[in-house]
Amino acid sequence: MKANTKTINKKILLKVSKISKKIINKTKLLPKTNFAISFLISEIILANLEIENIIFKRNYYPVPAILKVLDNLSYKIDLIKKNNIHSNMTKVLKQPFNKEKSHKQIFNILWSKYTFSQYLKDRIGRYRNRIKINNLKKIIKNKKVIDFGCGHGNFLIAAFMEGCSFGYGIDYGKESINFSNKIKKKLKINKNLKFKVGSVYKTKLKSNSFDVAIQNGVFHHLDKPTLAYKELHRVLKKGGYAWFYTDGFGGIRDILADMSQTILKDVNIDYKLNKIRDLNLSYSKTYHMSDYTNAKYQHYDLKKYTNYLSRIGFTNFIQLNGGTNTDFDKPFLNDKYFDLKFGSGDLRILCQKK
Ligand SMILES: C[S@@+](CC[C@H](N)C(=O)[O-])C[C@H]1O[C@@H](n2cnc3c(N)ncnc32)[C@H](O)[C@@H]1O
Repeated sequence: MKANTKTINKKILLKVSKISKKIINKTKLLPKTNFAISFLISEIILANLEIENIIFKRNYYPVPAILKVLDNLSYKIDLIKKNNIHSNMTKVLKQPFNKEKSHKQIFNILWSKYTFSQYLKDRIGRYRNRIKINNLKKIIKNKKVIDFGCGHGNFLIAAFMEGCSFGYGIDYGKESINFSNKIKKKLKINKNLKFKVGSVYKTKLKSNSFDVAIQNGVFHHLDKPTLAYKELHRVLKKGGYAWFYTDGFGGIRDILADMSQTILKDVNIDYKLNKIRDLNLSYSKTYHMSDYTNAKYQHYDLKKYTNYLSRIGFTNFIQLNGGTNTDFDKPFLNDKYFDLKFGSGDLRILCQKK
């Protein structure tokens, strides 16, 4: 990127960041009534849907449209505050955000809400496709694969369908693991696939015992990510492959995702996820919006991330492709405003244990 474009982008990002802080501060002054918070949740989701429309329009300069959405959101917050006089004044329960505890509750709810057919369509299809387009079949075929923070098991079941000989999924969400086991039963998958409740910090598994390890969108939610990366490194065989997916850094999208999460973070989790569900979005959008506006993400840029992984003991980094039209992996998405919109973009990395 030219130095000039870099400076202009920096200025725009600073401006968006300042506006988002103003919006956050405005929402702090809202009464915590059912009336105000339910309108706020709807407005945040609507704004995020529109932001998504804007940033995924290829080669479209996003700034005026984004500023309009933020301006509109700010105005709506004023209206919510003003019209709270008409509310019946019932209060929404507070639930202070506690990163790992809150994530456990959020993902337990989200992962176990899928129906069998939506799970197969939305989730398994997506991961089988990711394995195919990134030529990972040769890496997993007849191999032992472990999935750290497997959720409801989608990646591991897809890997199993693509030929891995043994799969082990670990997640601290009891309901997610129950759901994975139910799916396994329904699909009549044999004993070589195990899903266990446990912590990614301490798997209690033998060192150097897996050929492939997956960390797909998990460690960026942790309090102590380095501990988890070291644990994953420990159980992987020397030369074994790791698939890492972690959130990128430095675009408009990151600022606005953080803004939404900050605004909603202390609202009771059941309450806000029910409100989002009541909006009647499609399955995948309900999931995506609930995750994106409620979970806390740590952002990494590509260079810092690979340097970090290298210090932990990984090498031979290759950037991979998510493959859906709302993924934004830099080498695979042609957009002249990529850096401004997405910064480093999604980071899907294949690498090996040194
Ligand atoms: C965004 S979800 C990703 C799930 C799955 N890897 C996927 O790609 O579909 C993050 C998952 O990490 C799990 N998780 C977060 N912190 C964890 C921890 N400390 N120990 C075990 N699992 C954890 C959550 O329960 C959740 O299922």
